[in-house]
Amino acid sequence: MNQNPAPREFTTPAGIRAWVTAQRAGGSRIGFVPTMGFLHEGHLRLVDAARAVSDVVVMSIFVNPLQFGPTEDLARYPRDLPRDRALAAGRGVDALFLPDVSVMYPPGSDTRVAPGPAADRWEGAARPGHFAGVLTVVAKLFHLVSPDVAVFGQKDAQQVALIRRMARDLDWPVALVV
Ligand code: PAF
Repeated sequence: MNQNPAPREFTTPAGIRAWVTAQRAGGSRIGFVPTMGFLHEGHLRLVDAARAVSDVVVMSIFVNPLQFGPTEDLARYPRDLPRDRALAAGRGVDALFLPDVSVMYPPGSDTRVAPGPAADRWEGAARPGHFAGVLTVVAKLFHLVSPDVAVFGQKDAQQVALIRRMARDLDWPVALVV
């Protein structure tokens, strides 16, 4: 039986910011696991890794339309929020950030984070614009959650390298765990 309390849920920038601010004021170190949902054991291991180096763990679940190309089917991306909720609770996630597309990208929101040339190779060559979409959403999530530590899976090596570069180039005070 799951002994963990259900994670707090937030859907607005103001909500997640206020909660994180209160946690930090109470002395907690904030760990963050960004996801697009449809969780599996790999994601849950990232939660364990975040837990090992922080006091509270925030997970975001957001299927980011910006990282899908015109021929990639955003609508068919698998989603199962009730199951994700149960899995996150079972692994002791403290807060879930579940923003809507209209919250992350309100009408008129057209600023993008442009990755450097390292995004033009490998997966980036096959999926033009993909990494600009990834960096833009991760930048926004970092601003909203302001984590001390963010945890990413190592299977997406190019993504992690670009996020690491962005954090360094933009002077983000976040440690990345891979
Ligand atoms: O790796 C993923 O699941 C996504 O690219 C991320 C980092 C959550 C951004 O949408």
